[in-house]
Amino acid sequence: MHDQDRVQRIARQHAETSRLMGVDFLPVGAERASGAQNAEPSTEIEVRTAPAPKEASDRERRQALLDQLRDRHASDCPHCTRSTTHSKLVFGEGAADARLMFVGEAPGAEEDRTGRPFVGRAGELLDKMIRAMGLEREEVYIANVLKCRPPNNATPTLEEASRCGPYLLEQIRVIRPEAIVTLGKPASQLLLESKETMGAMRGSWREYQGVPLMPTFHPAYLLRAYTDENRAKVWSDLQQVMERLGLGR
Ligand code: URA
Repeated sequence: MHDQDRVQRIARQHAETSRLMGVDFLPVGAERASGAQNAEPSTEIEVRTAPAPKEASDRERRQALLDQLRDRHASDCPHCTRSTTHSKLVFGEGAADARLMFVGEAPGAEEDRTGRPFVGRAGELLDKMIRAMGLEREEVYIANVLKCRPPNNATPTLEEASRCGPYLLEQIRVIRPEAIVTLGKPASQLLLESKETMGAMRGSWREYQGVPLMPTFHPAYLLRAYTDENRAKVWSDLQQVMERLGLGR
């Protein structure tokens, strides 16, 4: 399938997700991209509505959308479908209606083997961080910028992130968490469209599409530089998130 066909198919599918989600705001340009070959990009916004299925709970409805997105990703992702070095896709996991979402970088060896995010050493530390916040892993949602393991665990390139990233953005749209914690530079830079360093980004509230976003150090970085200072910084970032979500009171 050509890249243009792929992009149009993804745009069509994104529009369908929006329709299934009920009221949403769609850039008209994106809609047109799904139907017309040479449509001009537009900044106009239109409101679309669709009745939500009554019988399904909110969480089930979101989970069904995530399942659809996972299938689409498996067959369409312009990055992952071309990568030949991974064994399992790691789409993400957790509560479809989570109040808090963590976004990491890309699967490592253990994640590639199991198909689950953050289950290696960095994952053990993330689990501790989550528990320290008074939450269980099952209550949050955990995803990555890239959903397949890069060769040699390389940091995702901008091109890779821009190809696989749209699926993460759609996961966020479906889950609509009350806050996002980005773990490390690739996730923070992608969602904030920023080129700032982690040192500059971490520790203060930012925003992604109206969702409060707290950038903090990646647990793998913390494991490499496990100093009192870095631990205190991460804990202070997480405490700000706890404060905002009313956790641990
Ligand atoms: N495991 C993941 O799933 N993501 C990371 O960024 C690191 C380890």
